[in-house]
Amino acid sequence: MTSATSSFSIGSNSVEQTIELGRKMSKVLKDDDVVVLCGDLGAGKTHFTKGVAKGFGIDSEITSPTFNILRMYEVCGNPNVTQLAHWDVYRLEEEDQLDDVDYFGIVESGCVSLVEWGDKFPGALPDEYVRVDISLVDADSRIVEFTGFGDRGQQIVKDLEAALG
Ligand SMILES: Nc1ncnc2c1ncn2[C@@H]1O[C@H](COP(=O)(O)OP(=O)(O)OP(=O)(O)O)[C@@H](O)[C@H]1O
Ligand SMILES: [Mg+2]
Repeated sequence: MTSATSSFSIGSNSVEQTIELGRKMSKVLKDDDVVVLCGDLGAGKTHFTKGVAKGFGIDSEITSPTFNILRMYEVCGNPNVTQLAHWDVYRLEEEDQLDDVDYFGIVESGCVSLVEWGDKFPGALPDEYVRVDISLVDADSRIVEFTGFGDRGQQIVKDLEAALG
């Protein structure tokens, strides 16, 4: 049983600030890390992911994988990260469908995984991960809360909080 003991919130007043938060988070991530992105439709999960990809030096346009469920991106020249798996499980209806898309095999294959709507299937959450909750405040403002689960998840949150400090 793991407990969430590491958590902090930060405001974002523009899409650029959310992208920058993602970019900063990329600097404290390494292969095997899992980040679950939560928040309503249009909260900013994909734009946060754009920032992470930017920080990894990924040149491709990051588009929502809503219809594909998964997009994989190669990461070059980063000693800590080889690939980014960008998931969007919104369209999956049953937890069993994660097996159909080899979710567990890919998450455990040695890449960084960002999972939009990952909270939809609580039984599929790993022991160690970071949950990012993006809440809408108004058209341009969001509250972004980071919560670390397990040793690694808590370490990521602490490192990120220090990096943002
Ligand atoms: N501070 C902000 N941070 C992030 N996005 C913002 C912000 N202010 C406005 N926006 C707008 O909110 C929208 C966020 O869209 P995005 O696709 O990132 O959301 P999402 O959470 O991935 O949605 P979905 O659940 O449909 O995948 C964009 O149109 C973006 O321009
Ligand atoms: Mg999205």
